Amino acid sequence: MISGVNHLGIAVRDLEASMELYRSIFRVETFHRERVEEQKVEIASFSVGGVLLELTAPTSEDSPIAKFLEKRGEGIHHVAFTTDAVSADLERLAGDGVQLINKTPQRGAHDMLIAFLHPKSTGGVLMELCEPQKTSQTS
Ligand code: CO
Repeated sequence: MISGVNHLGIAVRDLEASMELYRSIFRVETFHRERVEEQKVEIASFSVGGVLLELTAPTSEDSPIAKFLEKRGEGIHHVAFTTDAVSADLERLAGDGVQLINKTPQRGAHDMLIAFLHPKSTGGVLMELCEPQKTSQTS
């Protein structure tokens, strides 16, 4: 079941430059840094009121984030929702005719199981479902 907003994914070209920007806006002291090979991205995230802001830069030219930056430029990339059962949600949504980008859960940052829904089926908003593992840190 989906229970809340987990994070906002923000596409950035230069992780260091954008960390500087967010550091000055939010007075962020520490970022969680992680390279997620499966998604071909490197992230720097921090928490505001329990919601993560996840600055996401591509690590290769064929990364989905690289394609997004090319087409749309920097900005909000996706909204991610917390769920306790991503597989069950995918099954339910597929049954309801929602188009899925990931038919099975993938490994995302913070050791979460994640899957993206196609923006064609969600009113133009790229949505991600994330299931934190029992041991994972979300900040
Ligand atoms: Co995300």
